[in-house]
Amino acid sequence: MTRGRFISFEGGEGMGKSTQARLLSEALQNRGLTVELTREPGGTPGAEAIRSLLLDPPGEGWGKEAEALLFAAARSDHVSRRIKPALAAGRWVVCDRFLDSSRAYQGVAGGLGDAKVRELHQIGSHGLLPDVTILIDACGAEVTERLAARDGGISDAIGGRDAAYHEAVNRAFLQFARQEPERFCVIDGTGNIDAVHGRIMTAIAPMFDTAA
Ligand code: TYD
Repeated sequence: MTRGRFISFEGGEGMGKSTQARLLSEALQNRGLTVELTREPGGTPGAEAIRSLLLDPPGEGWGKEAEALLFAAARSDHVSRRIKPALAAGRWVVCDRFLDSSRAYQGVAGGLGDAKVRELHQIGSHGLLPDVTILIDACGAEVTERLAARDGGISDAIGGRDAAYHEAVNRAFLQFARQEPERFCVIDGTGNIDAVHGRIMTAIAPMFDTAA
């Protein structure tokens, strides 16, 4: 049995990741592949429960260490119960956010540091990395409009952090992509949904040659 492929989608708020993850998973299914479309934080009952704790925190919210530990714990459950079994069974996994979100949000913007986030990932998920990470990058005004249309101005505990935090997140993602060009595909997220989907299909085409 050939191991499946693991594709993650990353980017700041309002980049259209979830829509694009869904379109990619449909396109892969149309090619005859079996695909698991999933998301983080979440993807298993336990990780979805942790998601609620993170996005709607009780009391005064989490300290930065506790927040990173919760994301790592959710990921650990998701990796061991869903992602690894799917890959071992030959399925393709398309995941809306993964480790690089923790690196950008908790590690860089949140100030915990990349080394600690990676250490937690080593402990929780044996350091599993996607085969390909699609980073959707779009610029300011278009993103602000999308967010207003989607959230109606209401956002969760992390989405609602200030502009400086989210700018640091976006810069961090681009920096990661520069550091690991063999894993990341940076996709221009401007323009309509189909145009962005087309760019993603072009970018991942080489995966089909090596997945026979
Ligand atoms: P998500 O539902 O993907 O939100 P959005 O649609 O706005 O991208 O993710 C929920 C929030 O959790 C989002 O603000 C990013 C944040 N997050 C982290 O801070 N660290 C992580 O490791 C992950 C996976 C998400």
